[in-house]
Amino acid sequence: MLSTSLISTPLGLAACVMLLFSSLLWRVQKSKKSKKSKQIAHVHVKEKQTVSAPPFRTPRPKPLDGFKLELTDPKLYRPFRHGLNFVTMGIRKMDWNEWIELDSNFVRYHDAKVVELEQDLDGRVKYVDNEVTRLACHEMLDELVKYLPQRYPDVFQLRGGIIVNTVTGEKFPYPAASPKEALVTAAKLVQDDLVLMIENDDSQYHLDAGAVILPGFWRLTDKFRMSLDEVHMEAGVPHYQAKLQKSMNRFFKTMTCEKPIIRNNYFIQLDDGLAWSHRMGDQNATSVASWASTDSANLSIDDIHFRSERQSLRRLPKSKALMFTVRTYFEPVTVIAKEPHVPGRLAEAIRGWDETVGHYKGRCHWEGLLLPYLDEMHEKQMESGVLENVEGEYPF
Ligand code: HEM
Repeated sequence: MLSTSLISTPLGLAACVMLLFSSLLWRVQKSKKSKKSKQIAHVHVKEKQTVSAPPFRTPRPKPLDGFKLELTDPKLYRPFRHGLNFVTMGIRKMDWNEWIELDSNFVRYHDAKVVELEQDLDGRVKYVDNEVTRLACHEMLDELVKYLPQRYPDVFQLRGGIIVNTVTGEKFPYPAASPKEALVTAAKLVQDDLVLMIENDDSQYHLDAGAVILPGFWRLTDKFRMSLDEVHMEAGVPHYQAKLQKSMNRFFKTMTCEKPIIRNNYFIQLDDGLAWSHRMGDQNATSVASWASTDSANLSIDDIHFRSERQSLRRLPKSKALMFTVRTYFEPVTVIAKEPHVPGRLAEAIRGWDETVGHYKGRCHWEGLLLPYLDEMHEKQMESGVLENVEGEYPF
């Protein structure tokens, strides 16, 4: 409050007016400043919004023009090394162009899938009926429908709401009418088995959907809803807890849409069952198949098959599910043993497994037959001079 004695003289009055004026000016300037800084803050927010990354869109693959399914030989994956061979994560960066591989075995795989689906559709194709898994099933088909006609235009075409396979003559409605239809359609479009891993409330990735039709040794019904750890521990994957569990779980949690990966593995199988190894046990039994229940009586070298999977893993952008593809390459061992370097290197790899890996791969059931055969084939290759040829680099 201004004292009355101060404003009673002209000089005092003038001083008071000056004081009031400068205080007013200070307030106006302060308010302008704060408005400006609020505007700046707003601009910052806007700027942040504009620079934030756009939603991920899967890169379009380069078309393989002139691709002829029936003339394309299966890739010769031979993913074993000289010397000691460990079971490892063994992941490599995936080239988006090469997400799905097709070859002259397409019709054979497709027809085997159709037979399995006719036998037990509900056992081979399953999903958990919740929002995120339903979305993931449709998203998996969406991604395949974006990829296949673009990559293999001679095989697949999208005409209106129909996906056409020009080789089998099949026509699939798209989008699919239900998550299950999406899974079945996806399975018939490719040679791979398909799995969706979904993060559950326990923060673990679970096998919550899939079309697993040609897996050889395990059934979708055995593993459905299991976590990543349960899947691998139940299969008895060697050294899982000590060597793989931590890094695999970390990898699953942090994997981004931009960085898909692939890996390869291999197994020895004692019969020619692409969908199911009958010597391992009854496909329709409820007990888990294992080498412990395997029948290796009267085995001949022609029975033994080399089974190798080329697996891919990517995160789907909308559902955030992890999509896992398992493409099996399957040959009699007598066929691959003709390839230069292969019998010698395979025998070396098998001898390079430790006891745990040997047990997991069922070595005691077939080593007495397979190893002498591979050694003999290797000897012949040494004598013939074919080992002068340059050897393929992993995984070939
Ligand atoms: C980065 C991802 C993964 C890694 C590094 C990995 C690693 C492995 C390893 C090391 C094995 C032992 C045989 C082999 O070398 O393949 C194995 C077996 C197996 N994995 Fe995985 N795995 C991955 C993802 C998955 C997923 C998503 C599934 C879901 C179905 C799965 C299911 C299995 C099964 C069922 C077996 C046993 C196969 C058999 O013995 O018949 N894996 N995995």
